[in-house]
Amino acid sequence: MNFVSIIMGSKSDYEIMKNCSDTFEKFDVKYEMIISSAHRSPERTKDYIKSAEEKGAVAFIAAAGMAAHLAGALASGTTKPVIGVPMKGGAMDGMDAMLSTVQMPSGMPVATVALGKAGAINAAYLAMQILAITDKELAIKLKEDRVIKSKAVETDSKSIEVLI
Ligand code: RP5
Repeated sequence: MNFVSIIMGSKSDYEIMKNCSDTFEKFDVKYEMIISSAHRSPERTKDYIKSAEEKGAVAFIAAAGMAAHLAGALASGTTKPVIGVPMKGGAMDGMDAMLSTVQMPSGMPVATVALGKAGAINAAYLAMQILAITDKELAIKLKEDRVIKSKAVETDSKSIEVLI
């Protein structure tokens, strides 16, 4: 069974990462979601990567804040795509997490998305775009979603626009 695995470093990341799982629900895409930390539970993180791969994880989404090494730790344990979501918060309000997540050494990629809520949602979209390479039904749903978004812009504009 193919699914996407969402891992967050702390329960404090859940409120934002719920946007990621909600996006999967909207598209009927299977996911797993757990808390495991690169720093506080390194063994659990390592073991989970293995078990998730055995169960059919096709991509991993890792969300962490501050010295955000979770996505990098996952990337070191799998050759499946890893998407990193930097979390806001801490003394630097996410700048630290963003740099920690994005600045991976060559050969160990982490596809880093935006900070916070937009990143949580985009991580799900990016994972679905990966799945949609071989899932035609999902590919159609993603195209339909783009049409809906485009129409919404026109509708929003009509509700306020002033043209000469
Ligand atoms: C990171 O540290 C977590 O991903 C979280 O974003 C941040 C703060 O964690 P808590 O102290 O709130 O558990 O590891």
